[in-house]
Amino acid sequence: MTETFDAIVLGAGAAGLMAAFTAGQRGRRVLLLDHAEGPGAKILISGGGRCNFTNLGVEPSRFFSANPHFARSALSRYTQRDFIALVERHRIPYHEKTLGQLFCDGSARAIVAMLLAECDAARVDLRLRHRITDVSRADVFQVQTNHGTFTAPALVLATGGLSIPKMGATGLSLEIAQRFGLSVLPPRPGLVPLTFGEADLALMRPISGVSLPVEARAGKARFTEAMLFTHRGLSGPAILQVSTPWRPGEPVAVDLLPGLDATAWLLARKNERPRAALHTVLAEHMPQRLAAALGTTLFQEHARPVGELGNKALSAVSARLKNLSLTPTGTEGYAKAEVMAGGVDTAALSSQTMAATAVPGLHVVGEAVDVTGWLGGYNFQWAWSSGWCAGMSV
Ligand code: FDA
Repeated sequence: MTETFDAIVLGAGAAGLMAAFTAGQRGRRVLLLDHAEGPGAKILISGGGRCNFTNLGVEPSRFFSANPHFARSALSRYTQRDFIALVERHRIPYHEKTLGQLFCDGSARAIVAMLLAECDAARVDLRLRHRITDVSRADVFQVQTNHGTFTAPALVLATGGLSIPKMGATGLSLEIAQRFGLSVLPPRPGLVPLTFGEADLALMRPISGVSLPVEARAGKARFTEAMLFTHRGLSGPAILQVSTPWRPGEPVAVDLLPGLDATAWLLARKNERPRAALHTVLAEHMPQRLAAALGTTLFQEHARPVGELGNKALSAVSARLKNLSLTPTGTEGYAKAEVMAGGVDTAALSSQTMAATAVPGLHVVGEAVDVTGWLGGYNFQWAWSSGWCAGMSV
């Protein structure tokens, strides 16, 4: 038996739930399909269980995409203030943690409950545990599942990206988009720890667990946040941030003393603490374990009291600390990535509606689209904004 709807949304995650109830509120009969046991699984685990649901500082420049202007329209049609208003209407207490990041005071479950209440009110037909076996289009879209066939003139692809495959992430939206002739920019893990070779790990591994504020740079992107040394390389917000624009083979540059004129400081210390070893002086501005590790690796030849080091040598130490160039061997992959970067090429989509310009009725939203936000609530805002636009269009 075939059931007919006005719109079918594939994926009951952040973007799909938003698209579904927005369309439902407009009187559309919406079917929301997901293969999972429950909706919004990534919302539930996000932000350490408290869901960093948006950011006060959302603006298009905080998203990576082959077309950096694409996100502008959706982000301005449905803004962070619109989502905050929704959260407040549902009386969900929240707070700003840091850098404009808004988190629930309680559990991320409140956000999923809010989205489900909106779906309920908008009479969205949510069906879980549906395996999608085929999607085709004649005069309308036809979605085949293990529980029957559904048709609709509009289809929203909202199955997200490839990160965390053990939670059931799949490339379904990318596959369907490609089948309908949309191009897909190569997907890659984003917001992910970086891995390094043995030479760099000689410094990093022994100080695994040490973290400090740094400025990390990859290409034109730069972020001043915490960096964490790990057994496999580097992590922490600064590194997760630069991992998205980073490309294999390129170096990542790290300033271990952001905001400090390191040359002036070291020269002053040479006068004031001439008998102190270099690593002892370094420990004034960084964790002791890191200073000690630098003393036995990068600055082995300077393992003398600073008073005995020439000004040139101290300038070289400063230059290294301010611009430590490290070339990752790779990333920790989709198993650890918070997002997938790349995805359906925005060139194929309307920036206002998320509709494919060449395939009437087809829409792509959320992480499946080649728009990837910074760490800090930006990716959920993209899901809400792009989902809302599609919901207003179908
Ligand atoms: P999302 O992944 O939310 O939803 C996709 C849905 O499609 C899922 O319900 C899935 O089951 C379903 N699906 C997939 N394949 C299917 C198939 N073949 N058939 C049927 N259904 C299918 N962002 C942020 O802004 N703030 C934060 O705090 C965090 N925290 C965070 C923590 C962790 C651990 C991760 C992994 C990610 C985050 N993120 C985040 C990123 C954020 O979770 C992500 O960007 C959004 O969930 C993307 O929303 P989508 O709706 O596009 O995909």
